[in-house]
Amino acid sequence: MRLAFMLLRVVSTLLFIGSIGVIVRLHNSLVLTPGRQRSKLQKQGIRGPPPSILVGNLLQMGKKTESKDSSTTLDGKQAITHSCCSDVLPFLDKWRRQYGPTFLFSMGNIQVLHMSHPDIVKEMSADTSFDMGRPFYQKQGLHPLYGEGILHAYGAVWAHQRKVMAPEFYLDKVKGMVTLMVESAVPVINEWNREIESAGGVADIKIDEYLRNFSGEVISRICFGSNCKEIISKLRALQEIACKKVALQGIPGLR
Ligand SMILES: *[C@@H]1O[C@H](CO)[C@@H](O)[C@H](O)[C@H]1NC(C)=O
Repeated sequence: MRLAFMLLRVVSTLLFIGSIGVIVRLHNSLVLTPGRQRSKLQKQGIRGPPPSILVGNLLQMGKKTESKDSSTTLDGKQAITHSCCSDVLPFLDKWRRQYGPTFLFSMGNIQVLHMSHPDIVKEMSADTSFDMGRPFYQKQGLHPLYGEGILHAYGAVWAHQRKVMAPEFYLDKVKGMVTLMVESAVPVINEWNREIESAGGVADIKIDEYLRNFSGEVISRICFGSNCKEIISKLRALQEIACKKVALQGIPGLR
């Protein structure tokens, strides 16, 4: 009886210590570390939208904001703009206007430093004095899809793949691909023309799937000399699964 009682006390003490440990760890990764990272950047004068606990700015990123560039013409129709960035990622556009070309936002507990000034972008892409690598959160989340492929690798692994691929992109080779690209594009254009005609001159066409199929066909014909529809559609399925959680992966438990 006494032994059982003592055992119970030991177990409950261990559980108590364990849960304190978990709380300390969570507090560290959710509050302290992001706070430290933010304050370092803020000391350099970098501002950004205030984050909420756990989700950071994810909720604002999900919201559809009226983009500044989508103006309307005199007859009230939506004017066509070519600024797709403000349509696809309106939150970046909004924050850029609010906080300038360099700002800070967070996805869950991941802090993201956004830079869009051409001089800084140029410096970052040309600089070799220190190795910036790839954003670690992208690498982690999309590793099942890209592995150590050229999109995600850096350093020696990247250089090796780049060297292997480079000859395929010599100008003469690319010129040779044009005929093939045109061959794959003509059916798409014809299909769009048919849709426009049958709709009486003006049609709304969702082009993303067409373009995806088109690039898949071009890539497989150039790389493998045949159309690997099955491989492309499997890659597509893999991509959808791998991308589903990427935006939420800063939130613990959702990765
Ligand atoms: C794209 O390719 C898939 C697979 O071949 C096909 O089922 C689908 O209809 C194509 N979509 C378009 C818009 O051409």
